[in-house]
Amino acid sequence: MADVREFDLVVLGGGSGGYSCAFRATQLGLSVALIEEAQLGGTCLHRGCIPTKALLHSAEVADVTRDAAKFGIEAELVGVNMPAVLRYKDAVIGRLHKGLEGLAKARRVELVRASGSVLDAQTVRAGGVDYRGRHLVLATGSFARGLPGIETSDRVITSDQALSLDYVPNRAIVLGGGVIGVEFASIWRSLGAEVRIVEALPRLIPAEDEACSRALERAFRKRGISTTTGAQVTAVRQSDAEVVVELANGHSLTGDVLLVAVGRGPRTSGIGLESLGVTLNRGFVVVDAHLQTSVPGVFAVGDIVPGLQLAHRSFAQGIYVAEHIAGLNPAPLDEDGIPRVTYSDPEVASVGLTELRAAERFDADQIETYEYNLGGNGKSQILGTAGFVKLVRRKGGPVVGVHLVGQRMGELIGEGQLIVNWEAEPMDVAHLIHAHPSQAEALGEAHLALAGKPLHVHD
Ligand code: NAI
Repeated sequence: MADVREFDLVVLGGGSGGYSCAFRATQLGLSVALIEEAQLGGTCLHRGCIPTKALLHSAEVADVTRDAAKFGIEAELVGVNMPAVLRYKDAVIGRLHKGLEGLAKARRVELVRASGSVLDAQTVRAGGVDYRGRHLVLATGSFARGLPGIETSDRVITSDQALSLDYVPNRAIVLGGGVIGVEFASIWRSLGAEVRIVEALPRLIPAEDEACSRALERAFRKRGISTTTGAQVTAVRQSDAEVVVELANGHSLTGDVLLVAVGRGPRTSGIGLESLGVTLNRGFVVVDAHLQTSVPGVFAVGDIVPGLQLAHRSFAQGIYVAEHIAGLNPAPLDEDGIPRVTYSDPEVASVGLTELRAAERFDADQIETYEYNLGGNGKSQILGTAGFVKLVRRKGGPVVGVHLVGQRMGELIGEGQLIVNWEAEPMDVAHLIHAHPSQAEALGEAHLALAGKPLHVHD
């Protein structure tokens, strides 16, 4: 007989969704066991958001150094010390990880460091102990998907391996032009690699507004990153010396590494869900509006739930479930209101509906769009970045989509999300004063234009 320990809530998985749920639940007076087989912080902290953004920052430092003369500064990029870049990245992770562990202790979360398996709707067995909860939250996250018939190796890698590569490849091929693909393409190019992206769909970051994809493709072309879209891979051959990717159009690409970035799959097999009878759809956990699974009392949050696989969505879902279980009646989460940022150079950020989706939802003649070019924005000119702010609005109504392209534009999505989620009309934003010179002014300018009183544009 295994030991049995009782809690109000048992959470399986200590990533963004799991730990936010655990932290909020103890804040609300619930007792919580949080079961994590690896490290608190999950994909986001150890293999996703944080390490990639650290690498992107090193990449930016390389670019700034290389381009220093443009700004009248004499400097020379003499090399990239990849082991040192990795140490910097790991130090950032280490500090955040330590902070998170301190928080878990302070919040009196019972952190169980073991691999857990669901026995029934109240019980997770981990490390020989049965953790029983009145409620169970599944938060097991995702893994980098491979492609059938393509073996991973030292040359054919997923983002997990790419994050700890201790050299810059001379020639990198990136399979998949989604978020992970374009971020790594951007990093490697800045660090000196020749980079080629192969994407199956007709454009990069296909979930974003088409104008953003086009702008990113243009910017990448200028940076020397080549893109093949609408491409089907027919074979991948690898040897000790190189990897060759063959395409259906008869062309082939040769590189030192091939990054496979074709999406992330849900980690829902092998954790006891089959016997529990939770309904799955292509491996993802089906949930209702309260994020409850088909088994009453069992909830799911984060990357295993169909939808955007983003850490901030997981945080929000974790908090939602904790509050729902505690009887707080939280407001439902709106997937369209979740901001999305791709941290490549240039950055692409968005919230709300793309032009295409708005046209589907409201009819094409019911929507209006406006693009403000960063050419007219002082701060962007100082930085030397091209890009734009694109607004999508319902005619005579609120702004339903904000789309941004350009260096540092990701930071502006905070204002964009307020505009979209508070259903602001152009006039509501047009009368707000934006600091000058700032890139936020570009958002202001776009709203001024939609409100019928453009300032820094030709009438
Ligand atoms: P993704 O779904 O964003 O992109 C995968 C891309 O691969 C798609 O464009 C797809 O059309 C393409 N693809 C699929 N099979 C292919 C094939 N056989 N040949 C060529 N192309 C193929 O997935 P990704 O980039 O792997 O990212 C996984 C998740 O991680 C995403 O949900 C993303 O939102 C999240 N993430 C978020 C980041 C951020 O918020 N900045 C950064 C990195 C990842």
